[in-house]
Formats: sequence, structure tokens, C-alpha cells
Amino acid sequence: MNNPLKSAAAHYDPTLPQVVRDPYPSLLALQRHDPAHWNPKLKAWVLTRYDDVKMALTSTDMSVDRIRPFYENLPAKEKGVLSELMRYLTLWLVFRDPPEHTRLRHLMSRAFTMRAVEVLRPGVEDICDMLTDRLPRGEAFDFVNDFAMQLPAMVIMDLLGVPRKHMFHLKSCSDRMQLFIGSARNAPDKYERAAEGAHEMATLFRGLIAERRAEPRDDLISAFIAAREADDAMTEDELVAACMLVMFGGHETSANLLGGGMAKFIAHPEAARLLADQPDLAKSAVEECLRLDGPSGSMARLVAVEHQLHGKTLRPGERVFAMINTANQDPDMFERPGDFDITRKPNRHLTFGYGAHFCMGAALARLEAEVTFPRLVQRLPNLKLAARPIEWHATIIMRGPRVMPVELH
Ligand code: HEM
Repeated sequence: MNNPLKSAAAHYDPTLPQVVRDPYPSLLALQRHDPAHWNPKLKAWVLTRYDDVKMALTSTDMSVDRIRPFYENLPAKEKGVLSELMRYLTLWLVFRDPPEHTRLRHLMSRAFTMRAVEVLRPGVEDICDMLTDRLPRGEAFDFVNDFAMQLPAMVIMDLLGVPRKHMFHLKSCSDRMQLFIGSARNAPDKYERAAEGAHEMATLFRGLIAERRAEPRDDLISAFIAAREADDAMTEDELVAACMLVMFGGHETSANLLGGGMAKFIAHPEAARLLADQPDLAKSAVEECLRLDGPSGSMARLVAVEHQLHGKTLRPGERVFAMINTANQDPDMFERPGDFDITRKPNRHLTFGYGAHFCMGAALARLEAEVTFPRLVQRLPNLKLAARPIEWHATIIMRGPRVMPVELH
């Protein structure tokens, strides 16, 4: 007899609108029936079990250096368009293997650890209150645009030392860069627009780096300039790339955590009430918002060394998607994995990655969410979804609402 789960697994198509909206029925079917799945649409392996995803994130059989081979295979015209964007992306440590990764990570962590995250809490609380006060009452608004995107952007800009007046411009730069880095959207001029976004963002940071060289301040740009490991320091291009990575990585993902998290609290009013009554549950509530349908859809890798997985042969050069959100619902790892349980413990989700590339901004992202969720469920108990449905990002890498129409009753 035809098994509907098996046939859902065989037909995983991430471009279908219903799969963009809710990818889990087909991904969980893959987890059960085809854990090392070759997907013809993605032309890539799709891994969905917890242990396999963790392995892909840490194994030396896999490489993170996937942007360069992709670029090398493009036609000459597109290569020309993307050359400046590539100049910076190839210096992002997310796309570097050792030894370059080890060197850059040491230098960047020096600057990061110079700045304790907890001291940022009062600033994050002020931003959260200011944005909450500004939300329109009695009419529908987009929670992503009016809150979820702005809070992390302001926090990361304050941390870096970028004046807030640049916020919407920087947001537009990263939206355009996103067209190359993680989007399934097929805009006709997407490479031109991505290149333009990178150029504008790099120009802004180059200017700020020059200002901080002349006059250092107490900010992350100055700390990046000052970071030394033995006699080594970041080059000018590495500094620009590091600022771009922190700006890009530091607000898109956190915006998805705040937007996606509030969508869950709206869908589960009993959890919202529990958190409002017991704000000391904030830490475990944040971990649950990270785990269940959290901001990391998947991470990409390239097979570096031929190896076998679940009877399949993975060959060098083939792409792999380690499906983090699906691994976070593996019943071998989590009890009642589909339940939204803000008291869940332990909660060993893989949302910040694992191993050498573990997210450098995890503490900051957690802080932003720990401040936001209890405050919003207390201050806005009547936040509801508006009639227009949530639009989700059409990419398998990032997961979260792109537009989230809500109302305050
Ligand atoms: C909820 C928010 C966030 C999520 C879900 C997230 C997720 C991730 C994941 C999964 C990785 C590993 C990438 C891989 O293995 O290929 C990563 C790396 C990274 N993240 Fe985040 N991130 C978040 C927020 C931030 C913030 C706020 C910052 C900066 C302040 C940041 C900076 C970075 C950097 C620099 C790396 C590269 C680490 C490396 O390759 O060694 N992230 N992030």
C-alpha cells in the first residue's frame, strides 16, 4: 500500500509555496524514511537526523568553503559583476576552513571577548521599550519591520559604533546581498543588486574604519582594529569583511528569532501567559524558540572527502544541506519534539551550529531575546495575527517571517 509519509519524503520540493510556509511534514518524513536524501531540485544532499547534522557541521570530510567553487563556475560576465562582493565574502570566516578560519576566528574573538555582552542589557532594554512604545495601536502593522528587524539592527550598530541613521540603508544593503548569499528568489538582476549592496556596505565601513583608526572609541570597530594575535592583525579588507559579517549575521538571524518567537507565543497563548507570570523562565523560553522552528533552517557544506552515509556515497564537490531545524525535532534526541515547551530541559538544539564555527554572536542573540519575550508578553498580551497571513523567507537557509502582519487589540 502507498505510504503517504514515504511519498512526502520522495517529493520534497522547497520551492513550493506550501513547503515555504511549513517545511516540516516533508522534512520529518525524510528524517524517517530517507535520512541521507539526494534532492534533484536542490542538486544536493539533505540531512535531517540530529547525529548526521551534528556530524556534517563538525566533520573534516566536509568543507565550509562553498562560495569560491560556485563563483569559479559562473560565466565570465557574472564573475565580473560579483568580483567585489566575492572580495569580502571570501574573507568571511563562515566560509573559511582551517588554517585561515583559525587565524581569523582568533583575531575576531579577541575583539569580541574584550566586550562583555551582559553590559549591553540596559541598552537592549531601552531599545525594546522605545520600539514597543512606538508600535501603532488599533491598526495592523508588520511586526518584522516595526520591531523584530529594528531591535537587533540597533543593538549591533551601537555595538559596532555605526550611527543609527544608517539603519535602513544597511538593511537595504543586506537584503540585496541576501539575493546572492541565501535566496531561492530568482530576481533577474539579482547579482547586480547583491554586488551593489555589498559595495555600499563596504564603502560605509571603510569610512568608519578610517575614522576609528584616527580616533579609536569604545566600540567593536575600534576593537577589531586593535585586535592582535602575536604580531598578526586584520588587514584592511579583513576588517571591512568582519564588520560586514557581524552586521549581516548579527541582525537578520536575530530578527528571525524575535519574529518567529513572537509568532509562536501568539499561536500558544498559554505559553505567553506562563512567561508573563514567570519571567524567570526567559532563558529556557528563548532556547525553545531557538529550537522549534527557529531561525536556522539549514547550513550548507561541500563534501571534501568521499564517504558513506546511510548506504549512500557522498562524493567530493557535492553540496550538503544540514537541516538544523529538522534535526532539532529528531525524536531520538528530544521528547515530544513538536511541542512548544518553554520549560524544556535539557535543550541541546543545534541552532547556533556546533564545533569550530559555533556562532560568535550566540550570547548577544540570547540576550536580545531574553529581554524581548518576557517584556512583550507582559506589555502586549493582546498582540494577535492580522487577517493577512505571515510571509516566510523563501530560502532553506534562514527561517523566519519576512512579513508578519499583526494587530494590538
Ligand atoms: C538567533 C540569532 C543567530 C543565529 C540563529 C545564528 C546562527 C549561526 C550559525 C548556525 C552559525 C554557524 C555557521 C556554520 O556552521 O556554517 C553562526 C556563525 C556565526 N555567527 Fe551567528 N547566529 C545568530 C546571531 C549572531 C549574531 C548576533 C552575531 C554577531 C554579533 C553572529 C555572528 C556570527 C559569526 C561571526 C559566525 C561565524 C563563526 C565561524 O564561522 O567561526 N551571529 N551563526
